[in-house]
Amino acid sequence: MMRRLVAILLVAAMPAAWGAGGEQVPFEFDPNLGNQASLQRGAKLFLNNCAGCHSLQYLRYNRMAKDLGIPEEILEDKLMLAGGEAHEHIVNSMPKAKAEEWFGKAPPDLSLVARSRGPDWIYSFLLTFYLDDSTATGVNNLVLPNTAMPHVLAPLQGYQHYNADHGEETSGGHGGGGPDFELVREGRLSEAEYRRAVADITNFLTYAGEPAKLVRYGLGVKVIAFLLLFTALAWLLKREYWRDVH
Ligand code: HEC
Repeated sequence: MMRRLVAILLVAAMPAAWGAGGEQVPFEFDPNLGNQASLQRGAKLFLNNCAGCHSLQYLRYNRMAKDLGIPEEILEDKLMLAGGEAHEHIVNSMPKAKAEEWFGKAPPDLSLVARSRGPDWIYSFLLTFYLDDSTATGVNNLVLPNTAMPHVLAPLQGYQHYNADHGEETSGGHGGGGPDFELVREGRLSEAEYRRAVADITNFLTYAGEPAKLVRYGLGVKVIAFLLLFTALAWLLKREYWRDVH
């Protein structure tokens, strides 16, 4: 009996460990689903910069707005793709065959990417686009070599050069032991601001991979509040009963 219970618990814990991706990537990111402002910024960045190519086929606009505390007017005026309806899933009208022709590979749905690749991977992917003349898009990527995805966030980040010779070992004078990048064309954001934007997008995609998690967090707080209240009542009751005994 005990052994079976342990086996069940082990199996239950597994997807979480596997979902972390496991691949070696240069940057780490810990998602924080409690940071609603970050999730809202991430939603905005995603819908404005990514949703034209990538769908989130299991997530409805109005579910997202409710979960993230986004008012209906803002959802409809600023966030939804043209032609979308609030009750619809976040999908675009890009024909798959055409997309394959354009990019060499259709942009995948990103509903589950935070669970298949892990947040560290997404964060690193968006930070490590670098100039490369030999590719069709003019850029390459450190964690997804020869990726078909263009550097769509270049207006924000700018373009960086990657110094492969100095690899991971040396800091290249940029602090930390990460890959040696040098910004050669500025974008609209500073490096710190761009990192925050990428963190927000990663946070949002983590939420999108499991929207029910936010609900569970909310429920957890209520359950604990109830237990505390119940404990207090039980204690008062006990004191009441024992008063006459002593
Ligand atoms: C112009 C179309 C286009 C836009 C816009 C775009 N992507 Fe992509 N993306 C692609 C294509 C094509 C691929 C497939 C790349 C490959 O496998 O080489 C891809 C792949 C990815 C992957 C890897 C998925 C996987 O598991 O292999 C992630 C993550 C991703 N994109 C995130 C984003 C984010 C975040 C944005 C917005 C900031 C974005 N993309 C905007 C075209 C696009």
